[in-house]
Amino acid sequence: MDKLIYLDNGATSFPKPQEVYEFMDRFYRNFGVNPGRSGYDLCLEAGAVVEETRKMLTRFFNGTDPNRLCFAYNSTDALNLIIFGLLQKGDHAVTTTLEHNSVLRPLYHLWKYQGVEVDHVPFDRRGFVDPDDFPKRFKPNTRLVVVNHASNVIGTVQPIKEIGRYCRERGIPLAIDASQSAGKIPIDIEKMAVDLVAFTGHKSLLGPTGIGGLYVREGIEIRHTRAGGTGVRSAQRMHLDEYPYRLEYGTPNTIGIAGLQAGFKWIEKQGLESIQEHEMRLTAKLRDGLKDLDGVVLYVQEDLTDHISILLFNVDGLEASDTATMLDVDHSIACRSGLHCAPLVHEQLGTDKIHGAVRFGIGPFNTEDQIETAIHAVREIAEFQKRKKDRTR
Ligand code: ALA
Repeated sequence: MDKLIYLDNGATSFPKPQEVYEFMDRFYRNFGVNPGRSGYDLCLEAGAVVEETRKMLTRFFNGTDPNRLCFAYNSTDALNLIIFGLLQKGDHAVTTTLEHNSVLRPLYHLWKYQGVEVDHVPFDRRGFVDPDDFPKRFKPNTRLVVVNHASNVIGTVQPIKEIGRYCRERGIPLAIDASQSAGKIPIDIEKMAVDLVAFTGHKSLLGPTGIGGLYVREGIEIRHTRAGGTGVRSAQRMHLDEYPYRLEYGTPNTIGIAGLQAGFKWIEKQGLESIQEHEMRLTAKLRDGLKDLDGVVLYVQEDLTDHISILLFNVDGLEASDTATMLDVDHSIACRSGLHCAPLVHEQLGTDKIHGAVRFGIGPFNTEDQIETAIHAVREIAEFQKRKKDRTR
């Protein structure tokens, strides 16, 4: 079998930089103890890696207080902390149809069990929400706006700064789901007027799975929705109020944090802009190669400005899952088909009726040759499908 071409970086980045594997191995062998629980050297060393990573990510988001960078398992976990910790009965929230189930489901849950009202702002033909649609939906009881920063389905990057301005005027907290964007494009909470950032470590930040977190701007206080061990002030009956303990429960994923740190350092060394430039050059090449293919439908990719390296397409007349299987079995190309856990995006595109679409997600280790192979593979599949259709006429 040919060497695998991995184009499923929207699901998780793979491979990771060599430095990530090496640092995780070294860290766990040498300092794999429980940080912050005791005062012996190893414990302090492990704790130092955790705190250094907090500082790095705080700087990256242009936050002011590293203690407000709290680790969680992933974006879904962080978004659950935000959504359940800020909304309650009688509240209203505004979100978008671009959201992943990590936002949609907690909100549906609150709607069903607590009567929280939710409005969904749709995206336009180009894949962007209109910031002016937000204030039109604000009500006196609007307590949270939560917006997908970069779509995991169509790759568009939303105008967060403009939405943030409206939220600030009304004193409504703005949370962004930075699952796909953190590590790909700059996130500056001050410039973007963002109050909460939910991120995951295993996608564009190039760390392992099982680590993510949130940054909570000063002035925003998230209610406790969980409680447990913190390693400090054990005699206190209630879970601690101060950050990061407020939102961290039990033994942290230290090996995950170590991997995230190594991934982040690799990005800093390469430069975010140069990674972005490489990925978007390959994305444009792929888009150009696919757009004129007979029998291939590309979605929302005419203009790649304000986009990340994700492309969505279908081969006319083929189920998305069949296209993905052919790419895998016949061409050794890994990608993701279906609804991508973001059903409202597909509803708006109309692709929900045909069981979704196929997604290519390009990462820092993809090459021009791989993109050429992918274009060739899709062409072959489309031609095969066309011949099949012609025969059955
Ligand atoms: N949310 C991830 C994706 O889009 C898993 O594939």
